[in-house]
Amino acid sequence: MATMDQLNHKDKTAKLLDMRELSLQGGGADRVERQHKGGKLTARERIELLLDPGSFREVDAFVTQRARDFGMDKPENQFLGDSVVTGWGTIDGRLIFVYSQDFTVMGGSLSEVHAEKICKIMDMAMKSGAPIIGLNDSGGARIQEGVVSLGGYADIFLRNTLASGVIPQISVIMGPCAGGAVYSPALTDFIFMVKNTSYMFVTGPDVVKSVTHEEVSFEELGGASVHSTTSGVCHIAAENEADCLYLIREMLGFMPQNNMEDTPYVPTKDDKLRTERALDSIIPDNPNKPYDIKEVIKLIVDDGRFFEIHEHYATNIVVGFARLGGYSIGIVANQPAVLAGVLDIEASEKAARFIRFCDCFNIPIVTFEDVPGFMPGTKQEHAGIIRSGAKLLYAYCEATVPKLTVITRKAYGGAYDVMSSKHIRGDFNVAWPTAEIAVMGPDGAVNIIFRRELAEAEDPVAKKAELVQMYREKFANPYVAASRGYVDDVIMPSETRPRLINALEMLRNKRDSNPPKKHGNIPL
Ligand code: HXC
Repeated sequence: MATMDQLNHKDKTAKLLDMRELSLQGGGADRVERQHKGGKLTARERIELLLDPGSFREVDAFVTQRARDFGMDKPENQFLGDSVVTGWGTIDGRLIFVYSQDFTVMGGSLSEVHAEKICKIMDMAMKSGAPIIGLNDSGGARIQEGVVSLGGYADIFLRNTLASGVIPQISVIMGPCAGGAVYSPALTDFIFMVKNTSYMFVTGPDVVKSVTHEEVSFEELGGASVHSTTSGVCHIAAENEADCLYLIREMLGFMPQNNMEDTPYVPTKDDKLRTERALDSIIPDNPNKPYDIKEVIKLIVDDGRFFEIHEHYATNIVVGFARLGGYSIGIVANQPAVLAGVLDIEASEKAARFIRFCDCFNIPIVTFEDVPGFMPGTKQEHAGIIRSGAKLLYAYCEATVPKLTVITRKAYGGAYDVMSSKHIRGDFNVAWPTAEIAVMGPDGAVNIIFRRELAEAEDPVAKKAELVQMYREKFANPYVAASRGYVDDVIMPSETRPRLINALEMLRNKRDSNPPKKHGNIPL
């Protein structure tokens, strides 16, 4: 091959074009074919689908790995760009940084230079105040490089942690993600997975078998289904890669670019003053009958669009993004249709994490409350519901974004305090006429405070019904709380949308802060 100073100008440009072409080939046609046969796109195809057409600008396409042991110095082991594609582009015209691991080059394994490339664009994303999206498809640490590769992971973990709360970080699992490698996605804000072609675990099926004698498949151990329903590690499980990348584009539309920006405004034709008669009769007459809080949400938000996070995990609480009057909000809602909307360990942690994301990124939190309390039982107590419930309480207390609360029905006990009550800096707290704000439900309350009367009654059933009715009239309504200013108003359900939009407008310039400190100590 001619050296650079032997080449004339034309040859030099031709060489550049050749190298560019070569860098696009990844691990070569055979490995690309294998990737496609496995139902997976290549690193570059994924970037093309994720970003606005033609917007991707690659960096470090000519970087090559530096290892020399185990035959790594041979030309066949040198791939331009090594095993990750990095750069920036736009989504809906907004700047985004991206890295995409290339499984066709040594299984997307993480070499020293692979880590350096990721760190370089993470640093750029931080300096430019733009989100970073990591597309993960990797066999883990580059085995031939040993501890150098482990060091590379740690360099990324540190940056993930420092970027947390400064720029949104999204991880997408589109193939293997195993061992310590899982901890980069785990440190980021949201994890997307693709059903049937991606998996995450700390130790794989072989190690599991040798240590615990359990026989388990890759999918059962760490596939998208298990992580989006049982572990909660995955926020969104997509049907296929294209669907997954599309959903990421949509979700980013709800977020600001960084913690210093406000959320983007998306004009809507949905009338800000729209009232919704259906809401006036959505709560069943029987307070123990369920209804679907997602129906309530969809009737209120702009264009009925609710982008749910963790849709299949801890379904007794619902969280996700929507817009009101064109501005993004984060919604946290008890779900009476599942376990009566009770707060348990998983639900508390799911909501707490979401609230903290919203607070980091200036997204107002709207809470729909219908909660009978915390889940009783040894299972929950022994697993630490005290600590988990405290996480939710802490997250709400600490949040300084606008906090709006609508009590649709039950607000009982400690859960009343926790769910963004006035006492913990709720800015706009309203109740529907169907609200029951009390220490506990009428049944339980009567059993305790009228124990003697019930024991002595000639007809205990009739007596109990009478006392329950009396308790309900006296306490299980919104007016005791309203008389003390614990709720700002009791509103018609149908007017919820205009009232929330009006309150958000009132709160647009809200300023609140916490005392100066290094950081708080959330009960982890
Ligand atoms: C170097 C690797 C590699 C790795 C795969 N390859 N993983 N090269 N380091 N970690 C290479 C293979 O040699 C092969 O090269 C190509 O990638 C594709 O791999 P296959 O095995 O043919 O693919 P497949 O059958 O799809 O299996 C994928 C796989 C398997 C399940 C990921 O490759 C595998 O088990 N790899 C090892 C995983 C692992 O133990 N990694 C270390 C984990 S510890 P050719 O040339 O044939 O294309 C870890 C610690 C991180 O990551 C700690 C952070 C703190």
